[in-house]
Amino acid sequence: MSHVFHRNNHAHYPKAVKGEGVFLIDDQDKRYLDGCCGAAVSCLGHSHERVRDAIKQQVDQLAFAHTGFFTTEPMEELADFLIERAPEGIEKVYFVSGGSEAVEASIKLARQYWVEQGKSEKKYVIARKQSYHGNTLGALSAGGNQWRRQQYEPILVDMKHIDPCYAYRGQEEGESAFDYGQRVANQLQETIEELGAQNIIAFCAEPVVGATLGCVPAVEGYFKRIRQICDQYDVLLILDEVMCGMGRTGSLFACEQEEISPDIITIAKGLGGGYQPIGAMLCSQKIYDIISDGTGFFQHGHTYIGHATACAAALAVQHTIEDENLLQRVQQQSLSLAKLLSELKSRYEEIGDVRGRGLFMGVEFVSNRETKAPFDSSIKLNAQIKKVAMTKGLMCYAMGGTIDGRRGDHIMFAPPFIISEHELTIMVDLFAQTLDEVLPKAIQSQQAA
Ligand SMILES: Cc1ncc(COP(=O)(O)O)c(C=O)c1O
Repeated sequence: MSHVFHRNNHAHYPKAVKGEGVFLIDDQDKRYLDGCCGAAVSCLGHSHERVRDAIKQQVDQLAFAHTGFFTTEPMEELADFLIERAPEGIEKVYFVSGGSEAVEASIKLARQYWVEQGKSEKKYVIARKQSYHGNTLGALSAGGNQWRRQQYEPILVDMKHIDPCYAYRGQEEGESAFDYGQRVANQLQETIEELGAQNIIAFCAEPVVGATLGCVPAVEGYFKRIRQICDQYDVLLILDEVMCGMGRTGSLFACEQEEISPDIITIAKGLGGGYQPIGAMLCSQKIYDIISDGTGFFQHGHTYIGHATACAAALAVQHTIEDENLLQRVQQQSLSLAKLLSELKSRYEEIGDVRGRGLFMGVEFVSNRETKAPFDSSIKLNAQIKKVAMTKGLMCYAMGGTIDGRRGDHIMFAPPFIISEHELTIMVDLFAQTLDEVLPKAIQSQQAA
C-alpha cells in the first residue's frame, strides 16, 4: 500500500524507472512514447546528457545559496540569456520554481506597480474564460475554467473573465476570422469601461491556450488589439507562456508570433525541461524602475527562488535548444505533425478540429461534425483515450470541458523537440490504434445517451 497522496486516489500508476530519449520506461520494462512531455515540459526528452552533466557539476560546486544573501553565476547567466532573447522592453527576470508561482508573482508585481504610483484603487485583474493559469489561489482566480474553480469559488480573489479567442466555436457564420478576433478583443475594452480603468490592474492571457482549450492560438490581429486597449486604458498586459513558451510553438517566446510585447511574461515547463523545477516571471524596465525608485523591493519571495541547480539545468536546456537549432526543428516537425493529424481528421468523423502551433497541437472531438455537438460528458471520452493510449505505450494529454468547463473533449500533443520523423509517425499511429478501440464504444454510448 502506497503512502503517497497521488493525484487520483483511484488510479493505478505504473512506476517510471528510466528515461530514454522520447520514452519513459516503467519497472516492467514497458516503454511509453511521451507524446505530450507530461504537460508540455520535457522538451529535450528524458535523458539529455548535457543537461545531466550541468546539474551534476552545479551540485558538486554549489547546490543552493539563499537569494536573500547571495546571487549566483547560473542565475545571472540564465537571466542574461533570457533577456537577450526576450521581446522588446523586457529587461528583468524573477526566478521561481514553477508556473503557478510565476503567475502568482506576476499578479502581485502588477498590483505593487500601481500601488507604488499611488494608484491603490486598482484592484481587478481581467482574464479569460476557459483559461488555466495555475492552481495556487491567485493563479486559480485568474483561470477561467469553471470545473477547476467551482469548489474553491468562495475563497478565490474577485477577478473578471471575458470570452477566449476560440474561433472553432466562437466565430459566427459570415464573420471573418479577423473581425471575430476584434469582436472578442473588444470585450476587454467593454469590461474595462464597465469597471472603470482606474480599478484595473492587468489583463492576463495565454497566447496559445493549452490545458483548458487544447492548443488554441488567437486569430490574427487579436493580440495587437489587446495591446492597444491595454495601452489606451493604462492596464498592464501579462502573457502567460508557462505552457506555450520556450520554443514550444516554434519561437522562444510565443508572443513573438503575435508581434507584440507584453509588460510581464510568465514561463516555466520548457524552461528547465523537467530536469529541475523552475519557472520565471519577466518584466519590463518600466515596471522594474517604478519598484526600484519606490520602495526598492518587490514584496514577495519564496525560499527556492533562483535555485542555483535549477538555473544551471535551465541554462543547459536553453543552450542546447539554441546550439542544436531545435526551434527550427520544431517548425519543421510541426508541418509533419499537422499533416499526420489532418490525415486522422479525414479518417475519423469524430475529430472536429485540429489546431495548434509548433509542436503544440490539439484535437477536439465531436459526436456530430455538422453541429459540433460534443460527446456526452458521462462517457468521459478524453479519459478513455488517455487510459487506452497508456496501455498501448503512448502518453497524450487528455482533458474534458473544452467548451465550458464541463462539455467537450480534447487531446493535446506536445512531444519533445528532439522527436524524430519516425517517432512522430509511431506516436500518431498509436493514437489511431487508440481511437479504433475507443471511438466505436463511445459512439454506441452516445447513441444510447
Ligand atoms: C498556462 C499555464 N499557466 C500556469 C500553469 C501552472 O504551472 P505549474 O503547474 O507549474 O504550477 C500551467 C500548468 O499547466 C499552465 O499551463
